[in-house]
Amino acid sequence: MAEAGPGHPGGGRLVSWYMGDAEATGPVLIASNRGPVSITRGDDGRLSAKRGGGGVVSGLSAVADESDMLWVCAALSTGDRAAARATPDGLLDPDLVGDGAAVRMLDIPPATFQRAYNGVANSTLWFVHHMLYDSPNRPSFGPGFAREWEAFRRYNEMFADALADAARAAADGAATGSAAQSGGCPVARAVIQDYHLCLAPQMLAERAPGTPIAHFSHTPWAPPDYYRMLPRDVGRDVLTGILGADHAGFLCRRWADAFVDCCAEFLDAKVDRGRSQVTHAGHVTSIGVHPLGVDADRLRARAAERDVLSRMAALAESTAGKQLIVRVDRTELSKNIVRGLEAYRELLRTRPEWHGKVVHVAFAYPSRHDLPEYREYTAAVQRMALQIQDEFGSPGWDPLLLEVNDDYARSLAACRLADVMLVNPIRDGMNLVAKEGPILSDRGCGLVLSTEAGAADELGPHALMVNPFDISQTAQALHEALAMSATERERRSGALAAAAAAMPPSRWFSDQLDALDRLPVV
Ligand code: G6P
Repeated sequence: MAEAGPGHPGGGRLVSWYMGDAEATGPVLIASNRGPVSITRGDDGRLSAKRGGGGVVSGLSAVADESDMLWVCAALSTGDRAAARATPDGLLDPDLVGDGAAVRMLDIPPATFQRAYNGVANSTLWFVHHMLYDSPNRPSFGPGFAREWEAFRRYNEMFADALADAARAAADGAATGSAAQSGGCPVARAVIQDYHLCLAPQMLAERAPGTPIAHFSHTPWAPPDYYRMLPRDVGRDVLTGILGADHAGFLCRRWADAFVDCCAEFLDAKVDRGRSQVTHAGHVTSIGVHPLGVDADRLRARAAERDVLSRMAALAESTAGKQLIVRVDRTELSKNIVRGLEAYRELLRTRPEWHGKVVHVAFAYPSRHDLPEYREYTAAVQRMALQIQDEFGSPGWDPLLLEVNDDYARSLAACRLADVMLVNPIRDGMNLVAKEGPILSDRGCGLVLSTEAGAADELGPHALMVNPFDISQTAQALHEALAMSATERERRSGALAAAAAAMPPSRWFSDQLDALDRLPVV
């Protein structure tokens, strides 16, 4: 491993973070755009932390309660930036962060961050992987995009620099700490998350050779015929960036296969499908499928807390005697909330027997309001909800409860009371709500699930599967789920919950580390 040196940006600054206590395996470095905490400054000027949002964070937070972990993330809010600037290297005060991983927040220049996060990650890579471009109009790659791509490279470099610093600091700490005294010399392993950081694996491999690196994609991966929409060099850079890792993980076989197909087509990489390996420029990357699931005990314990119980009581009172169809989503373009509402409208139009007997509880929480497409989509959801309320609402019956303000406890409450969960994304890496719903539901729920969610692989046999574009099929599935006998619903729900809990975050994560530990020694 390379020595920390004054010539390398920030070389060796993080020695204070790791003093060589993790004897056998060495520390773990996590990198993701959004970190485990979000910092705010109160009226008294004091900084305080609360848990960061999003599925990636909740999956990783469940495994990050270890002192030999460093989590590198971007400073997102003004509070985050204030906290990052309060220390010389962005390594947050442990008293502020609380238990769990040490956190280093990167104070990325705002213009660089905006171009990288909104311009490339959210408006380009996310759209490609979800195949959601309105292609007669978008995308168009011109000089503006070249500037955004440059910023994206810089953003990835800042992460790679921070990870390389930490890897070198770990090596220095190990050389002087208890691990060295016991004869071990643990090496830091880096686990890099998602499309935001697709270039970082290769950059880290160049900066800290010998560091075992895993990358994990939390989204779908586009098949070659769609992926070719990216400018040629950009498409190749993304693939080469991930292939800088020793292990590349995906949520289901379909996305892993698409990635491998792109490597073969655009890099002419050597693909060994039997051994799940891709070789490019003399480096071998193993490909793994790690279907992230739910820690059922932890989730149920959270859903038994007082704030959830009070929201259950309120919801049960306002919907007394009705069956509940529940959906919980961030309002992302991929979640297909408008067609879900259209399907509910069709159910009520074609099956009047459900009038007065069912309520659709739709939680559609804000997401990425910096992007105009997202603001327009949120408005479309609200318009469709109003139409349904106008067409079917009566003094004794509110057919639809749409809530757009995020309230985690209320989401848990709705899942506990659900008779049917509706999860109908156009395309989704996994969709954890499909897994959480059956685990939480008190009486057992039916699950109407899109064939295009990664979760379909594990949950498909026990769910009612739908084509997310087929509103009539979705309406029919909602009817079947509502009409299902209690015994059948309970049986299916039990099977869904068992499948959902089969790969808890701890196992999902340790499987990736195990894959790194199996690497041949070079
Ligand atoms: C979506 C993607 C995830 C990604 C997340 C980031 O849910 O499917 O893979 O990590 O967005 O969300 P953010 O709010 O941080 O942009």
